[in-house]
Amino acid sequence: EIMPKRFRKEKTIEDREIENWVFDKPTLLALAKLVNKGYLSELTSTISMGKEAFVFKGKDSAGFPVAVKIYKKDTTLFKDMIPYIDGDPRFRHIRRKRSHIIYLWCQKEFKNLQEFYEAGVPVPKPYAYRDNILVMEFIGIDDLPAPRLKDVLIENPKEFMESLINDIKTLYENGFVHADMSEYNVLMRGEDNYVIIDVGQGVPLSHPMAYRWVVRDIINVVNYFKRRYKLNVDHKKYVIEVLGEDILAHYLGSY
Ligand SMILES: Nc1ncnc2c1ncn2[C@@H]1O[C@H](COP(=O)(O)OP(=O)(O)OP(=O)(O)O)[C@@H](O)[C@H]1O
Ligand SMILES: [Mg+2]
Repeated sequence: EIMPKRFRKEKTIEDREIENWVFDKPTLLALAKLVNKGYLSELTSTISMGKEAFVFKGKDSAGFPVAVKIYKKDTTLFKDMIPYIDGDPRFRHIRRKRSHIIYLWCQKEFKNLQEFYEAGVPVPKPYAYRDNILVMEFIGIDDLPAPRLKDVLIENPKEFMESLINDIKTLYENGFVHADMSEYNVLMRGEDNYVIIDVGQGVPLSHPMAYRWVVRDIINVVNYFKRRYKLNVDHKKYVIEVLGEDILAHYLGSY
């Protein structure tokens, strides 16, 4: 049974006292614009209320389900975002105003979704973004949001781990790194039908930290499977597989 209990019941928006702190006036206006363009017709339930963003299930104008991620403007995490924006040649002129950084972050997640999607890595299809709002494909099992990797038991852990490493490699070959790969950011519809999410931290390989972050992603994934499934594997093999021996010499020293 792939669905853990916490995902079986949907919570309605009215259950939660969220109106005041995520739906400020500019956010409502941005939602209205997305509605006018047909990307959205309603928000139907809350999926997740995190530190950085709230994620809602919604419908587009044709009634198809979408996921709507709304970044919170009062997040204290915006300072942590800066290293992932600075050094990314796609975003050169950064103003330090909080809302501006949040908007950039949202745009960055959208652009990363486009890049990753085109590279053939399984991520939600990006539909639209505006200000602090991102509309993307809803990843669910029937009507319910799919559980995260950490919430399911994998039958073939080594194979599954290797397919995640292979996605890291595909991204790398396409010039990108996810930079936040973890058991929290993979949604499971099945072992051969999973989706990698939360790609806002992703950067092109031209970012000065990119190679370190590729290695960190690999280590995070491998360590999770070693811990949870007692796999007897060594991350070095996978680092070599992704990066090749030459680059390894430069970058493994710090780990
Ligand atoms: N496209 C999607 N379809 C279905 N569920 C999603 C989708 N995107 C995100 N979610 C759900 O929302 C949760 C939070 O999303 P995400 O990981 O992108 O946010 P986050 O940046 O980690 O925010 P925080 O850590 O502050 O919650 C995910 O763990 C997942 O359960
Ligand atoms: Mg996440």
